[in-house]
Amino acid sequence: MKTILAIETSCDETAVAIVNEQKIYSSIVASQIDLHKRYGGVVPEEASRQHLLTINPCIEEALQVAKLTWNDIDGIAATVAPGLIGALMVGETAGKTLAMIHQKPFLGIHHLEGHIYATYLSQPDWKPPFLCLLVSGGHTSLIHVKDCGIYEQLGNTRDDAAGEAFDKVARLLNLGYPGGPIIDKLATEGNPKRFSLPEGKISLPQGGYHPYDFSFSGLKTAVLRLVEKLKQENSESLPIADLAASFQATVARSLTKKTITCALDHNLTHIAVGGGVAANSGLRNHLQEAAKKHNLTVHFPPLKLCTDNAAMIACAACDHLERGHISSWNLGVQSRLPITDVMSLYSSSDTYEVQR
Ligand code: KG4
Ligand code: ZN
Repeated sequence: MKTILAIETSCDETAVAIVNEQKIYSSIVASQIDLHKRYGGVVPEEASRQHLLTINPCIEEALQVAKLTWNDIDGIAATVAPGLIGALMVGETAGKTLAMIHQKPFLGIHHLEGHIYATYLSQPDWKPPFLCLLVSGGHTSLIHVKDCGIYEQLGNTRDDAAGEAFDKVARLLNLGYPGGPIIDKLATEGNPKRFSLPEGKISLPQGGYHPYDFSFSGLKTAVLRLVEKLKQENSESLPIADLAASFQATVARSLTKKTITCALDHNLTHIAVGGGVAANSGLRNHLQEAAKKHNLTVHFPPLKLCTDNAAMIACAACDHLERGHISSWNLGVQSRLPITDVMSLYSSSDTYEVQR
């Protein structure tokens, strides 16, 4: 089995990890939240500059914690898509340079594939096929995981990502950044049934609604209108906890309904959840309860593997390297890349027989 050193710099975490298959030797995450907090969101240029400052200390620390040297490393990986271009370039350049100097293979990894591999890190027996609900600050997707590198996207958000909706609603309630954990905490003290909010449905041209696609911008606007109305009625105090609880329950219901429908329609009995919003207690409760009713198994990785980290990137790279997938030195970074195009990151993909 291969030992991989992986770098993740797609957004606002500088992360480096060393992993052998499903064993994590070290996983260093330097969060930039404090830096971006003052702006209420991630500022791309600030993120790139911070990655530049922290990347080398993180690499050194990962080797130290793992008690390994470059001789023990079989390959070097870095997230190359999707993400903030400048931020991705820092990790990709560091990864490629180290791979060249130490004469190791380089693997570019798709960030969302990394989130899928967080499941294998925490459930070593877990095997495809399964349905992955990916809910983060930048993505909300339902992905049919068929094999390493073989994915079908069954559902997607048409506007805001689930985490983005949490962050935007928190901002309009003046709660701070990132909004998800703050709303989650407040929701425990509020009444989720106090306000009825729209779940967000995507109309189809032939009539009816898209069964698996999500929309959260209407919900965000509905919260904004409700807040304006409540302020007019009583300028003294807003029922923040009830607003947070009602909003969170609406997001959780929408994610749960579509995920369960998608799993049942595709005969997928196992559901894995990934991304920062997988930490949400409302989503955890709703989805687990609904899955139980339908005899489906649902797995939420531990929190530190749900949010951005490099261990999940390394785990994906281990699997690809075992199958002989190596990236070309010419591979660049891409701000967008569908999960269905993962195999375009490897030059030796023709040696791989697809098993469906
Ligand atoms: O996966 P992640 O760490 O980074 C991205 O790739 O985006 O996800 C960050 C997102 C943020 O929008 C944050 O507000 C949200 O995950 N989040 C949560 C919770 N913890 C983090 N959303 C809802 N409830 C939480 N407990
Ligand atoms: Zn992520």
